[in-house]
Amino acid sequence: MAEIFLTPDSLITSKTDLNGKITYGNDDFVRFSGYSEEEFLYKPHNLIRHPDMPRIAFKLLWDTIKGGQEFFAFVKNLNKHQQAYWVFANVTPSYDSSGKIIGYYSVRRCPSKEGVKTLENVYKQLIEAEKRGGMEASLRALQEILRQVNMTYENLCIHLQKQGKVSGWYGV
Ligand SMILES: Cc1cc2nc3c(=O)[nH]c(=O)nc-3n(C[C@H](O)[C@H](O)[C@H](O)COP(=O)(O)O)c2cc1C
Repeated sequence: MAEIFLTPDSLITSKTDLNGKITYGNDDFVRFSGYSEEEFLYKPHNLIRHPDMPRIAFKLLWDTIKGGQEFFAFVKNLNKHQQAYWVFANVTPSYDSSGKIIGYYSVRRCPSKEGVKTLENVYKQLIEAEKRGGMEASLRALQEILRQVNMTYENLCIHLQKQGKVSGWYGV
């Protein structure tokens, strides 16, 4: 399957409402997703979901941001022209002046090679686990991987983005 790559100066941003419907996307969002504003506005953000992404990754995302925390992840997306592109994403809740969550905001940058290589393997295992035993099985598989590195999923992603390889860990 075709793949395209972000460059170090790429910055893809989008906003959603509380249900994950897209309310904004910047020029890089248009460029990489291949969708025009007309095509993506008010569509669910799974418009660019790639089938190689395990469901558990998005459950972690939603549990975290609904709980008011920010989330970091390596994500493989699929654009309108069936091209895949990996990103390092940060997703945050947006608040109104009374402190209520009113939507979500995502900023995506060029991912580190080490992060893509590692998460590609991790996600393959999680997809397999999901096929065998659903989300419970993929959560267990993810917990086992994280136990090996003694990190949370987010800390692993941040580490792989900033420092590259986790020393003493030969991957999954
Ligand atoms: C601000 C924000 C940005 C998101 N960006 C993406 C994205 O780039 N790619 C993606 O597949 N899902 C993204 N999601 C998650 C989707 O809403 C959705 O949970 C995911 O695509 C899985 O869809 P599914 O449960 O219908 O399979 C984002 C969610 C939010 C709140």
